[in-house]
Amino acid sequence: MLKTKLGDIELDGVFTNGSGANDDSLEKLLQIAGSRAGFVTTKTSTFLPRAGNPGPRFYTLRNTTINSMGLPNPGYKKMAEIIRELKTKTKKPVFASMSGFDAHEAGEMAKALSAADVLELNLSCPNLHGKSQIIYDPEATDEVLKVVKKSTDRKIAVKVAPFLDSDAQLEFCGIAKKRGVDLIIAINTLGNAMYVDADREKIMLKPKWGGIGGEAIRMVGWGNVRRYYEYFKGSIPIVGCGGIFTGKDAFAYALAGASAFACASALYTPEGVNAFARMEKELEEELKKHNYSSLAEAVGKAKEF
Ligand code: DHB
Repeated sequence: MLKTKLGDIELDGVFTNGSGANDDSLEKLLQIAGSRAGFVTTKTSTFLPRAGNPGPRFYTLRNTTINSMGLPNPGYKKMAEIIRELKTKTKKPVFASMSGFDAHEAGEMAKALSAADVLELNLSCPNLHGKSQIIYDPEATDEVLKVVKKSTDRKIAVKVAPFLDSDAQLEFCGIAKKRGVDLIIAINTLGNAMYVDADREKIMLKPKWGGIGGEAIRMVGWGNVRRYYEYFKGSIPIVGCGGIFTGKDAFAYALAGASAFACASALYTPEGVNAFARMEKELEEELKKHNYSSLAEAVGKAKEF
C-alpha cells in the first residue's frame, strides 16, 4: 500500500481520477472513494448547470482518448451538495474541480465548494468553443487566482493545460508562485485536436474539435511536470496526469517530479476503478526494483545526461 504527501495533505493511496468525462454523480464518486484511489476528484463544475456539447463527443482509440464534452455538469450548487454528502461517507480528501468563466464566478464558486479539501481550478478545458482557455491568458489567470485566494481558505490546485512553449509555462509559474498556488495538476488534455475517419471521410466529433488524452500526450506530460519540478524545487507539489495506464508510467512521472498521479483515459476501460489497485501494485514493484524505499524518495530522481 503506497502513501504520499502533497504538502501537508497525507494520502493513503497515490492515484486519483483526473477530473474526467463523467464523474459528476455521488454514485460514481463513491465508487472512486471505495477504490485504491488516495483522493477523489469531482467532475469540473461551472456556475450554471450545463448539458455540454452535442454528441458524438468521446472516443477511445489505441490508448488515446479524444473528447469534446464541453463540461456537462449539474452546476456548482448541486456539486457542493454532492461533495457535502460525499464527505460524510469517505475520509479521503476530495478535490472539487471548478471552472468559473470569469473571476467573479470563480470567487462565488470557491466559497460554495469549500466543503472540499482542495479546490482544483480547471483553467484549461479545451472544449468551451468560443471561450479561450484561461491558462493561456496570464492576466486572466492572475485575476482568477487573486479572487479565489481571497474567497476561500481551502488549498488551491491549478489544473493546467499542456504548455507547448517553455516561456509561456514559466510565465504561468511566476503567477502561481506570486498567488500562493498550493498544487499543480499537470496536464489536462491537449486541445484543438480532431479525429478524422478516412474510411467514412468524416470528422467524428460533432463539435469537430476536442482534447486528446492518454498515450499520445504522455511525453508532453513528463516534459511539463519536469519544468514545474525544476522551477518550484519541491515548494509546490505536482500531480502528474496524462497517459498513465501502468505503474511504470506513474514511476516515470515520479522520476520527472510528480508526487501523485491522476488517471482519466485509463478508467474508461472494462477494468474501471480497479485500475488503481493494479497500478499501485505495479508501482510498488518498480520502486522496489529500483531500490527506492518510498515514492517520495523517487520524486524528481530522473538522471540527466
Ligand atoms: C472536459 C474536457 C477535458 O479535457 C477535461 O479534462 C475535463 C472536462 C470537458 O469538456 O467536459
